[in-house]
Amino acid sequence: MALSAKLEKGHRYNTAASQAILFGGCERQMARLTVTQVLEMARKGERIAMITAYDYPSAQLVDATGVPIVLVGDSLGNVMLGYEGTIPVTMDEMIHHTAAVVRGSTNALVVGDMPFMSYQALDSEAIRNAGRFLKEAGCQAVKLEGGRAVAPLIRKLVGYGIPVMGHIGFTPQSVNQLGGARVQGRSSEAARELIEDALALERAGAFSIVLELVPAQVARAITERLEIPTIGIGAGPDCDGQVQVFHDLLGLYPTLQFRHAKRYAELGEAIQAAVRSYIQDVQDGAFPTDAHSFSMSAEEETRFHELLGDAPSQAQVG
Ligand code: KIV
Repeated sequence: MALSAKLEKGHRYNTAASQAILFGGCERQMARLTVTQVLEMARKGERIAMITAYDYPSAQLVDATGVPIVLVGDSLGNVMLGYEGTIPVTMDEMIHHTAAVVRGSTNALVVGDMPFMSYQALDSEAIRNAGRFLKEAGCQAVKLEGGRAVAPLIRKLVGYGIPVMGHIGFTPQSVNQLGGARVQGRSSEAARELIEDALALERAGAFSIVLELVPAQVARAITERLEIPTIGIGAGPDCDGQVQVFHDLLGLYPTLQFRHAKRYAELGEAIQAAVRSYIQDVQDGAFPTDAHSFSMSAEEETRFHELLGDAPSQAQVG
């Protein structure tokens, strides 16, 4: 079903007419986008942009643009911490960075990505870890990878009031099982399995699903069958939304270019050019100038030199 058809069909979620909530007996305006508003956006056919952020400054910058969803992805491992992939990322690292993103944002819905082995071993551990994202980091939802295998867990999390974003297709935490960062669902059978996964996540109560590295035709078929929004990355133009990694979008790693990413700026080169200019200015004595310096009064300077027993400076003599 196309987005327009989704609109006609409507969906089963209760969407808040306004952002006002009853809080401690008095009405309080909630600034942040809510998951029900995300569902409402998809129902109206508004395409949803999501971007990753990992710290306070990047959160401030992206939040000020009005982007509806900020994901603190476990891509943190690759792009911020210098790991080879997402597998080594820990809960404490994710909480630390997610809390900074929450401090740096006021408008966006912030989604914390559950790292490898924070939700796979035991449901009780998964629930506690998902709870940490909301309690300690202050984000509003969590994301976790997997299809039908994680649907029962998603049902539990949602039942405990923790909104969940699903993630299927190429799931980086399973890179060893999948044999590399490969497009998933290329065969008709594999594509049908992905549809089953997506439907299971929706039935379990996920409020949206990331489709990563999936043929465009398969992403479209999934999007048409779901009421909740699909958020694509390398999944073609027919998803309800798109997600991009901050560093890819801004060209912060100048030598890395992925087919699924579009660069909107060359900030890596701009940063290096700025730092080179700074080095040159320091070497040439062109920085700092008086404009970047502070001074004491002439009277204090004279006293200062008297205290040191210095000869008066040329400026004082003049
Ligand atoms: O970790 C991440 O940044 C992600 C997105 C690419 C969806 O999972």
